[in-house]
Amino acid sequence: MRDLLTGKSVIPVIVIEREEDAVPLAQALVAGGLNILEITLRTPAAVGGIKQIIQHVPDAIVGTGTVCTPEQVTLSEQLGCQFMVSPGATDRLLAAAKASSVPLLPGVSSVSEMMRCMEYGHQDFKFFPAEASGGAAKIKALSGPFADARFCPTGGIGLNNVMDYLALANVLCVGGSWICPPQLVEQKRWSEIEQLAREASALKR
Ligand code: 3PG
Repeated sequence: MRDLLTGKSVIPVIVIEREEDAVPLAQALVAGGLNILEITLRTPAAVGGIKQIIQHVPDAIVGTGTVCTPEQVTLSEQLGCQFMVSPGATDRLLAAAKASSVPLLPGVSSVSEMMRCMEYGHQDFKFFPAEASGGAAKIKALSGPFADARFCPTGGIGLNNVMDYLALANVLCVGGSWICPPQLVEQKRWSEIEQLAREASALKR
């Protein structure tokens, strides 16, 4: 995961409500400079949308999000996704991910959760829900005992606070949905989404 995320500022967290939106949305994000896309497995349209993006948007690096079960690990492999993101981490999920060819970014919000993931070899984590779990101050504090750990905070991040996170040496990148607001997607305002992506991809560490 570290190779994939290093040098990136923002990973869009995408909820696909209509399969027809998947390709134009991904094209707008990639055109705006964001090519690593986390597509959440939260909606009936997610799987079809992922297939469409992989087929039609070759510059996108597509991963699954909201991966909670071993079955979703298998699904991510079958779809040809290049990474997986989970909101938390159970032993069943971590074991399935360890046996998988697709790398997992496991979600944590506590030290003990990190330590459980470390037992499975992880050093890179989604920190979720970031703002509600102590925010940038907590991630900074984690650098003491866990100097090798790196984080992708997600949850409650937007342009107003993103730099608090990107300023930290142990933050690889941030995740967020602010780049693809539901009302812009619903109204197919792709050029505005491209502009939001452009702003996000221009954020400097
Ligand atoms: C996630 O799925 O990671 C979060 O719901 C995204 O959080 P945000 O909508 O607050 O950016």
